[in-house]
Amino acid sequence: MKILGIETSADDTGVALMEATGEFETGVICRILANAVDSQAVHAEYGGIYPNLAKREHAKNLPILLERVLGESEANADNPSIDAIAVTVGPGLEPCLWEGIEFAKKLAARLDTPIIPVNHMEGHIIVSLVRDDDANRKQKTENSDTKKEGASVRCSLFTVHFPAVVLLISGGHTELILMREFGAYEYIGRTRDDAVGEAFDKVARMLGLPYPGGPAVSALAESGRNKYQVSSIKLPRPMLDSDDYDFSFAGLKTAVLRLVKERSPLSDDMKRQFAREFEDAAADILAAKTLRAAEEYGANTVIVGGGVSANTHIRRELSSQLEARGLKLLLCPIEFSGDNALMIALAGYLHALNNEYAKPEDLRADGNLLLSKNAGFMLQ
Ligand code: KG4
Ligand code: ZN
Repeated sequence: MKILGIETSADDTGVALMEATGEFETGVICRILANAVDSQAVHAEYGGIYPNLAKREHAKNLPILLERVLGESEANADNPSIDAIAVTVGPGLEPCLWEGIEFAKKLAARLDTPIIPVNHMEGHIIVSLVRDDDANRKQKTENSDTKKEGASVRCSLFTVHFPAVVLLISGGHTELILMREFGAYEYIGRTRDDAVGEAFDKVARMLGLPYPGGPAVSALAESGRNKYQVSSIKLPRPMLDSDDYDFSFAGLKTAVLRLVKERSPLSDDMKRQFAREFEDAAADILAAKTLRAAEEYGANTVIVGGGVSANTHIRRELSSQLEARGLKLLLCPIEFSGDNALMIALAGYLHALNNEYAKPEDLRADGNLLLSKNAGFMLQ
């Protein structure tokens, strides 16, 4: 089945085309034909996302990305033989979601294709299961001349032994979820204030680093670790020992702000130490709570996705803590950790297998959309 994915929930416009076969329980194999993302640069100068500006950018980008995707996948633009269009309907910024939904509706009418509504967070979960078969095959048969078909990449989805615990960490979300099967999710913990990505972005701002702050803070923190054995700054680990699975990153951010004010003006060295200690604190909290959740809920698989899952130190900390306890850790491939439309196409494919299509007139953007408790719930 060939699925076109469309993603516009925040400040990344994504269009992707992929072909997949197989079922979630027994193994899905897919070919990524094209995966285009435009990370809207306009927001950098404001240090945050402006919904109406993002919406305008989506409107501008969508037709350009669609053309690029069809060109790259060598599909015929008049007859791209797409079986279904998967589009993000939430959570996210509603003006942005509507832009993607309206684009999907027009395209579906033109191509006479059904539409599958997709939850953005489920996309982050499913894409975290992607394994690049081409890369594996290349490693195994170093000197053979295995070729990719055209520009496409072959991959498969990990078959998960349930229940699994999922840690979703992004700019808007920090959640621990119990996943009992594909489509059935139970929230077991979440942030009570800021998302961890938001805290990275705010700390970046305090240290005079560019937006989005995650990658910049991370690079500075790594340089701090290379230079000093220990950090001279000490920050709290809010809610590390609370007897639930919730998080609080606003307290950590405020602690950084207070100390930054005290020590300003900051030398480059001091900025390194702040970045490193902040990242250490975030990683400690995330790893400890995830480990405890997996043990308590009897999950032997932990899935980690969302933009912040690209963070080297958080990946390292999760690997060392979870793998030491014999847990299987599935970290999102870094290239797919940020918002993209491949994740929407993949989740859409799995829903298409269950015939979970929506009538175009029933599509609604829901900024606060939650993951479903029961498989198939979204359309009931
Ligand atoms: O999932 P995502 O692309 O968008 C949504 O929020 O849905 O996540 C974006 C967030 C931003 O806050 C960004 O600063 C953070 O992910 N991020 C990182 C890293 N790369 C991106 N945070 C820490 N370390 C990184 N390497
Ligand atoms: Zn996201």
